[in-house]
Amino acid sequence: MQNLLDYTGRRVVVTGAASGMGEATAKLAKEQGAEVVAIDIRKPAHDFADYKEVDLRDKQAVQDVVKEIAGEGKVHNLFYCAGLPGQKFPDFDVIVVNFLSLRYMSELFVEHMGVGDAIANVSSGASLAYLANMGNVMELLAFNNDYEASFEWLKEPRRTVPDWYEPYSFSKQCSVVWTLQAAANFTMKTGVRINVTSPGPTDTAMMPTFVENQREGFFDEYPKPIENRNSRPEEQAWPLLFLGSPAASYISGENLFTDGGTCAGMMTGVIDPTPMMADPSELEERRRRAMEEFGED
Ligand SMILES: NC(=O)c1ccc[n+]([C@@H]2O[C@H](COP(=O)([O-])OP(=O)(O)OC[C@H]3O[C@@H](n4cnc5c(N)ncnc54)[C@H](O)[C@@H]3O)[C@@H](O)[C@H]2O)c1
Repeated sequence: MQNLLDYTGRRVVVTGAASGMGEATAKLAKEQGAEVVAIDIRKPAHDFADYKEVDLRDKQAVQDVVKEIAGEGKVHNLFYCAGLPGQKFPDFDVIVVNFLSLRYMSELFVEHMGVGDAIANVSSGASLAYLANMGNVMELLAFNNDYEASFEWLKEPRRTVPDWYEPYSFSKQCSVVWTLQAAANFTMKTGVRINVTSPGPTDTAMMPTFVENQREGFFDEYPKPIENRNSRPEEQAWPLLFLGSPAASYISGENLFTDGGTCAGMMTGVIDPTPMMADPSELEERRRRAMEEFGED
């Protein structure tokens, strides 16, 4: 039987390949026959065909590495898995690594890709409220790849939707909405498919920071429909490999919830989302901290 998940002969770029979902994706892609180009700010413990040390907060570095990789040979897949959790990292770094560079790198690679090639990136179930925050999301998307203009815009208070001050969720909302737009825009022009996954809590190096960032007990109460457990990195990697493979040859513009059903339950009233929402005083505190960081009252 034909194995549609066979990556033999495919050159695959994975960001965040030193840890968690990125590492699992890079390893499984290699096992499936891919030539893996690993990108991370730190060297992966595992050996891949190539490793590029890149700080994804640096726009020029993103541009340079895409040029370098594309100059070295054909690229068939991009899996942008790098990310930062919120709060303990500067807000703008979170927005840049989780969204602006995801978008910029995807757009740059698309210019070197064609029919049969695919991009599958990682967002988060934390993006769930993107429809409610669409005004802010659209405003940021309109700056395209202008990091400076995005930064200036982010300094302005956005009082109508206080949850904007949580940069992690906002970055993930932007990634989802941009992916939906990109599918219509560049799949039509180039044939390159683009999709995104929205994972639930996953046992990676990032998880302890999420636990620290939330109130005590938050993740114990968090609804996990499958065996009441977090997902494993491989359970995030396989859906990415599926989306990047010919098995998904007619799928583009999909936001795939890889959370065991949590978001589906919240969207349909089966799971009560209230305990998962930040209380208003916490949001006010976040807003205050964000304003402090941007040097405003
Ligand atoms: N773990 C979870 O519960 C969870 C849930 C939903 C979504 N996510 C998302 O999944 C993605 C993967 O996260 P993970 O859980 O595997 O975390 P992780 O911390 O294990 O891996 C993240 C990787 O990104 C790299 N990275 C961070 N900043 C970078 C930079 N400036 N330049 C280059 N590389 C950088 C890190 O070095 C690391 O290897 C992220 O986008 C994260 O937001 C995680």
